[in-house]
Amino acid sequence: MSIYSVALFFHILGAFGLMAALAVEDSALRGLRRATTGEQARTWLGAMRTLRVVAPASIALILVMGLYLTAAAWGWTGWIVSGLGALLLVGIIGGALTGRRMIRIGPAVGRAQGALSDDLRQMVLDPVLLVSARVRAGLVLGTLFLMSVKPSAAGSLVVLVIAVALGIAVSQVETRRSHELSHRGG
Ligand code: HEM
Repeated sequence: MSIYSVALFFHILGAFGLMAALAVEDSALRGLRRATTGEQARTWLGAMRTLRVVAPASIALILVMGLYLTAAAWGWTGWIVSGLGALLLVGIIGGALTGRRMIRIGPAVGRAQGALSDDLRQMVLDPVLLVSARVRAGLVLGTLFLMSVKPSAAGSLVVLVIAVALGIAVSQVETRRSHELSHRGG
């Protein structure tokens, strides 16, 4: 057993944590978008709150261990620099697009009694929340690919661009589908 292999274990543990956080965010977001009363919305928001600790802690673990692995054995290869950029983007997008909206949604949902008002429904149905979640999922899966396949710098960038484009495309399909359902009253 070497320090390197233990650091790799914690690096991968951080990746598991980030995946788990994305999965919890996915079900909480789906629940929040379906919620029709303040009580229902609060239940899903509670699940989302745990992410304020789990997601940054996982990113920090991936980052610290990743930097150690890089310094110990690899140097700044194209796939590592791209992975680092992607991980930083995950943190920035999560904070700027989702975190800031949640700061407004949290107290409003906390006060809501009975049926959700139209304003509050608009806030929880904000398509930016979906774009943010799907693009971050794409970036994390793309980075997982980079870590496993270790492509060239150009190849790494192509992988990340495709991952972001897929994330945006999935969020657009979901937004369109939920518009259609709400127009049909479903
Ligand atoms: C979402 C972000 C990330 C995920 C999901 C992730 C995941 C992984 C996984 C699963 C491995 C094991 C691959 C293998 O052993 O073949 C790995 C290895 C590695 N990662 Fe990451 N990683 C991420 C970000 C980073 C960052 C930001 C850095 C550098 C600052 C980094 C540096 C490394 C290095 C140097 C290895 C060692 C590869 C080896 O020994 O084969 N990773 N990563």
